[in-house]
Amino acid sequence: GQRLPHPPGRRRIFGDIERDADPTTPTQNLLRRCEGLPELVEFKAFRERFVFVMSARLCAQVCDDATFDKALPPAILALRRFSGDALFTAFTEEPAWALAHDLLAPAFTKPAMRGYHDTMNAVAGDLVARWSAATGPVDVPGDLTRMTLETIGRTAFGHSFGTFAAQQTDPYVEAMVTLLTESGRAAGLSTLPGGQLITRRPRERARSAYDTQVRITEGIIADRMRTGGQREEGEDLLGRMLFHAHERTGERLDRRNVVNQVLTFLTAGHETTSGAVTFALWHLANDPEVMARSQAEADALLGPDPTARPTFELVPKFRYLRRVLDEALRLWPTAPAFGRSPRQPTQIAGYTMTPQDWLMVFLPAVHRDPAVWGPHPDRFDPDNFLPERVRARPAHSYLPFGTGARACIGRQFALHEAVLVLARLVHRFDLTRDPAYTLRVSERLTLMPTGFTLTARERVPAS
Ligand code: HEM
Repeated sequence: GQRLPHPPGRRRIFGDIERDADPTTPTQNLLRRCEGLPELVEFKAFRERFVFVMSARLCAQVCDDATFDKALPPAILALRRFSGDALFTAFTEEPAWALAHDLLAPAFTKPAMRGYHDTMNAVAGDLVARWSAATGPVDVPGDLTRMTLETIGRTAFGHSFGTFAAQQTDPYVEAMVTLLTESGRAAGLSTLPGGQLITRRPRERARSAYDTQVRITEGIIADRMRTGGQREEGEDLLGRMLFHAHERTGERLDRRNVVNQVLTFLTAGHETTSGAVTFALWHLANDPEVMARSQAEADALLGPDPTARPTFELVPKFRYLRRVLDEALRLWPTAPAFGRSPRQPTQIAGYTMTPQDWLMVFLPAVHRDPAVWGPHPDRFDPDNFLPERVRARPAHSYLPFGTGARACIGRQFALHEAVLVLARLVHRFDLTRDPAYTLRVSERLTLMPTGFTLTARERVPAS
């Protein structure tokens, strides 16, 4: 039928994959080419066709929940083979989605956040102590990943991974990275001619990583069943998963679903947050003025004691640091794309899409749309998030947490944790980067800087 526009230089077998493109960085490859591409573009990789939304205008159209719904593109379907109908990989019309959403949403309200705050502060304190004791440059993505995994483990599941004590990567994180990488690789390879044959090894590696995650998860659940469920601090996420029934229908999550929910939350609940904080630190270390303004704000709010911890109420007062984080997530949306499908045959940019079709909102392009962000969208500028500028922008031009009913359930959790740790770090330390380092970003569904280190020196807050 209709031909969608594609990038210039399409090849016969490889399609739109560039000759010398690094196959491990598809998001950055497309980002590099996005200037001058139409707002709806087809990308062919071997036999697979992807359709990308590149503009804020079309993004607004496909984000309307009345006419479009979340779609599961191949890489997410590959994950669904493992995590089934858990929140992130469920189809919206599956009963398991609404049930889990209703049961678990109360664990992400403001009062719930208040209950997590002390634990978040304690874990951020472990990170601060580690950087304070460091004798050389610190591994920023590695240490932030330690922190966010420990935070979600303790706040949501009452489980400590003990990651700050360990030198090596946590077995859960290792299995998670393998599962994300190998299932993604299998999804990619399966589009090759003869693909089913060469996907065997990655599928086996993904399966074995999943089994490891399930074992760890079963252990966490067994601990909770032994200790009876009710925790002193009240209901956490795991308590809600195991012991709560739906208010109206009385339904509960079945056991297999609970395992997959725990797994989903352990992964979704830490990987993207550590990436966001790491990108924010990269921009802070790169821009002395942004760093100075952040430190001035921290000094004003936290005072002269470098070991001060923000209270729950203080965290949202870090307005400038929040803008730094928002801007980091604009340029580096750590979950860089999400899928959408029309509910009925629908016209989009002059093309007809049916409910069998799906497209991806490509956030790195939407977040740089010159029609919204001006002529220099690549420039890091936290003032993009001054309230008057936010108000002046069209809706759906900034969506790092997705959209509508299927938007991120953990958004407030992530923002609170990220601002809290950034505040403590810039208050306590002067952070300098290795001048020889240039930003390298690895991809495994999410975006994460690699090889990024900082030197942390204790500072005296200005009084
Ligand atoms: C969904 C981004 C942190 C749990 C999503 C989606 C995005 C996103 C874009 C929608 C995906 C889609 O439409 O397919 C992020 C970013 C984070 C973050 C950028 C950090 C900066 C968290 C945290 C948690 C979490 C901390 C849990 C504690 C989830 C879950 C879903 C989700 C369970 C699926 C929700 C549903 O479909 O009902 N996230 N997320 N995320 N996120 Fe997050």
